[in-house]
Amino acid sequence: MNHLIAPSILAADFANLQRDLEMINKSDADWVHVDIMDGMFVPNISFGFPVVSATKKHATKSLDVHLMIVEPDRYLKAFKDAGADGITVHYEACQHLHRTVQAIKELGCRAGVALNPHTPVTLLQDIIADLDLVLIMSVNPGFGGQKFIDNTYKKLHDLKALSRDKNPNLFIEVDGGVDQHNIQKLVDAGANALVAGSSVFSSADPSAAISHLKYPEKLLQS
Ligand code: DX5
Ligand code: ZN
Repeated sequence: MNHLIAPSILAADFANLQRDLEMINKSDADWVHVDIMDGMFVPNISFGFPVVSATKKHATKSLDVHLMIVEPDRYLKAFKDAGADGITVHYEACQHLHRTVQAIKELGCRAGVALNPHTPVTLLQDIIADLDLVLIMSVNPGFGGQKFIDNTYKKLHDLKALSRDKNPNLFIEVDGGVDQHNIQKLVDAGANALVAGSSVFSSADPSAAISHLKYPEKLLQS
């Protein structure tokens, strides 16, 4: 399976969101990554339900909703109703992660768990079989455009080892600082879903930037 690309609309132009979503619809992207920040779990606030519903209205691809919020259980159904196809919660924000994961699955969504850069992959060993996706944060969550943290490769190695036995079909997603320079190395290390915000939307040709992330070998050959 080729890796999936999930452009993050956090870096889109919110005054032209429909235009940017139509660009994603026509591109080689697989999912639309939707970053929800509450100003509590992370220092920043992004956007809420009306923007997710508007995104759903115009996006033809699966909505990959990343909740950087405290007490995510309170809002799972509301995000499903707003259009989420996958919901990822943070390990660090959940007291009863098993219950939260079951609740996401009962809503019919892909269930994901995100790990902050300091959270070791081994903490997932008793839940990994229940998950559809693990998101490894390769920056501290809260802002786009940050520098990629190199320890991500080690975490991918650990997650690959854990998933090999317990959940070989797991989506292994990396989020933060992904660009055309590190994508091949991330895929080689085991990532199969890659989020990209600034490297797509700050490009002069965002659609071509998505193609380069999806098919990095073509870029190397040209
Ligand atoms: C960061 C968000 C990311 C962000 C990535 O907290 O979770 O999804 O949009 O942005 P870039 O690709 O610019 O690092
Ligand atoms: Zn994200």
